[in-house]
Amino acid sequence: MSVGGVDTVALARQYGTPLYVMSEDEIRRVCRSYVDSFQKFYHGNGRPIYASKAFCCKEMCRIAFSEGLDLEVVSGGELYTALQAGIPGGNIHFQGNNKSVAELELAVSNHVGDIVVDNPSELEKLEKVAAAQGVIVPASLRVKPGIDAHTHEFIRTGQIDSKFGLDLVSGEAFTAAKRALELEHVKLIGLHCHIGSQIMEKEPFVHAAEVMLGLLHQIKQELGVELEHLNLGGGFGIHYTEQDDFIPYMEYMEAVSEKIHACCAKLGLQLPRIYIEPGRSVVGEAGVTLYTVGSIREIPQVRNYVAIDGGMFENPRYALYQSDYTCLVANKASLPADYTATIAGKCCESGDLIQEHTLIQRPEEGDILAVLSTGAYNYSMASNYNRNLRPPCVMVRNGESRVVIRGETYQDLLKNDE
Ligand code: LLP
Repeated sequence: MSVGGVDTVALARQYGTPLYVMSEDEIRRVCRSYVDSFQKFYHGNGRPIYASKAFCCKEMCRIAFSEGLDLEVVSGGELYTALQAGIPGGNIHFQGNNKSVAELELAVSNHVGDIVVDNPSELEKLEKVAAAQGVIVPASLRVKPGIDAHTHEFIRTGQIDSKFGLDLVSGEAFTAAKRALELEHVKLIGLHCHIGSQIMEKEPFVHAAEVMLGLLHQIKQELGVELEHLNLGGGFGIHYTEQDDFIPYMEYMEAVSEKIHACCAKLGLQLPRIYIEPGRSVVGEAGVTLYTVGSIREIPQVRNYVAIDGGMFENPRYALYQSDYTCLVANKASLPADYTATIAGKCCESGDLIQEHTLIQRPEEGDILAVLSTGAYNYSMASNYNRNLRPPCVMVRNGESRVVIRGETYQDLLKNDE
């Protein structure tokens, strides 16, 4: 089995396991397809934003930006990473439901181009921070449009019972827009919504666009200001297994663009500048994690545990969401996958599993196990649980590999211990 023209078994030998492997060509291909969809269906009036929470390191910020994407960050740490990678503040969109004053100060002093205000108290905090620095800051409002996209409960965000954003239905979002327009040091530039993640259909996105244009219209009618910027968030699904079926990203932009044109014509609005904010779909399928198979424990009539040298510390997604993955034995990829395995991690916890009852090639100790589609929310959600080390990440392209994140060492674990 190879990735980006590089044999995975050779990669495992060269860098050791566990190892995150990312295909740079695949990341760039997806970035381009998003950029092209804006050209093709929306006159290039807007751009995709890479949601860096999916996989954040300096090189990833540079790759996304070099392909014409802006960067979304949700913490001081992601913001600092993007700035250190050389991304201009003006191309950064700062999200988050509870930004601290220090984080807002960092954003304002680095001229972040779009501070996405989540709630009324943050709006007042931002005004104070901007006033203290004597500047006027561009801000948009995160709106909860009341759309419930069908996805896992923990990763749904657009419905009313959500910790994110200003409620549209009760009028909270409109009131915040009114207040923002009164503030001296905040310049309201637009609206934002994000309705969930790993969404397979286009209808919820089209519906969200319609609902958000309704609010733009209300703001124009009642407050006399036509906002020019509308961010429709991310959430596009990817393949974890063959069963996952989602619409190609191009079709999404086509359908949304059609709806925006129709609504704007009906409501007498100018076409807003559109942003979308994909994370998972940019990096998810580009990633593969490689492990070495350790002990195999076959419990008759129960299950076959295949232990690997990773686990929930480097991929917590099965433990958190029972996420599906496709697994295979990389050095036996051409053999039939007829062995039912439960892939177990090495943490001291029974729930530390990567997948249960999944079909793989018959494994032996020392084999290389590959888990596919691990590019999103794996490295970024990794921890040092049980004082395990976060693995390195290599980028592969044209038969070559390079380290983009070094693996941790035991000394790294102690660096903040007194
Ligand atoms: N924009 C905002 C405001 C978001 O909250 C998110 C994801 C995105 C964009 C990117 O969404 P994506 O295209 O990646 O679906 N840890 C979970 C996923 C959490 C997503 C949180 N927000 C997982 O592993 O499935």
